[in-house]
Amino acid sequence: VSVSSARSPVDPATNDGEFPFTAADFREIADLLYAASGIHLADAKATLVYSRIAKRVRKLGLDSFRAYCDLLRSDPAHPEHAAMLSALTTNVTRFFREPHHFEHMTAELLPPLIAKARAGGRVRLWSAGCSAGHEPYSMAMTLLEAFPDAARFDIRILATDIDPLVVEHARRGLYNDGDVEPIATGVRSKYMIRRAPGSWQVAPALTELLSFGSLNLMEDWPMRGKFDAIFCRNVAIYFDEPTQTRLFTRFAERLTPDGRLYIGHSERSLIPQLISAGLTIYRLKGMP
Ligand SMILES: C[S@@+](CC[C@H](N)C(=O)[O-])C[C@H]1O[C@@H](n2cnc3c(N)ncnc32)[C@H](O)[C@@H]1O
Repeated sequence: VSVSSARSPVDPATNDGEFPFTAADFREIADLLYAASGIHLADAKATLVYSRIAKRVRKLGLDSFRAYCDLLRSDPAHPEHAAMLSALTTNVTRFFREPHHFEHMTAELLPPLIAKARAGGRVRLWSAGCSAGHEPYSMAMTLLEAFPDAARFDIRILATDIDPLVVEHARRGLYNDGDVEPIATGVRSKYMIRRAPGSWQVAPALTELLSFGSLNLMEDWPMRGKFDAIFCRNVAIYFDEPTQTRLFTRFAERLTPDGRLYIGHSERSLIPQLISAGLTIYRLKGMP
């Protein structure tokens, strides 16, 4: 789909023709998404918007993107706002994605945190933008491999995402053969339970370390206390620079003095308060 100038129809040669889609429609949807989530859609994303939102237009029995935009504009509380957000977020994830972060967790992050927990301290890890749970469960597996009796201490992982559908998937903890494939066999046999051919359930040992919730990173964060590690990987990449700067500043404020921020392979910190502590890993400047 190529988006034509405002309010003129999209070229039918590049449109599947089912629904009219104009540049003004694209702009309105992109603006709504940005205001709701901080996600910035460049004009080149018109095809993506068309294919994902056409399904919503069809499902609602509407006949055009214009009618869809009218519906959203006329009722800011309409449940379609959440459905649009779910449709437009990219939830791609996998277990042990960017494995060097989990190696770093084992070698560098966890040893002092385990000592802190054993000494009665509070340890908190956060997967911010957790998608369907692969990331926080990978963190929990890494933690349990290093600290099998973690659950007896005050050490917990918070997992949040803006999209309630993926949070629900994460909470259910049900995965298929393809999902669990990247988990090393020995680790998988300890923490993933085969429920039926092709269906795996995360073990209670993992879920008892985790709590899940819907949270929009652009809004207030209700959690109290600081985090010893924040994983926010492949999330900020969808935000524009001012939004990334604001987000990373807020993360820096939420890190313990020796806390670490882990970000995605194509992201980088834009703020001076955070300095490199490894490949796409940051710590507070002037701290250990
Ligand atoms: C590509 S996934 C990354 C998942 C995981 N962190 C990883 O690296 O595999 C990006 C996630 O960020 C979430 N997201 C996007 N904007 C968000 C926001 N404003 N607040 C919270 N989560 C957001 C999306 O819903 C999506 O699940």
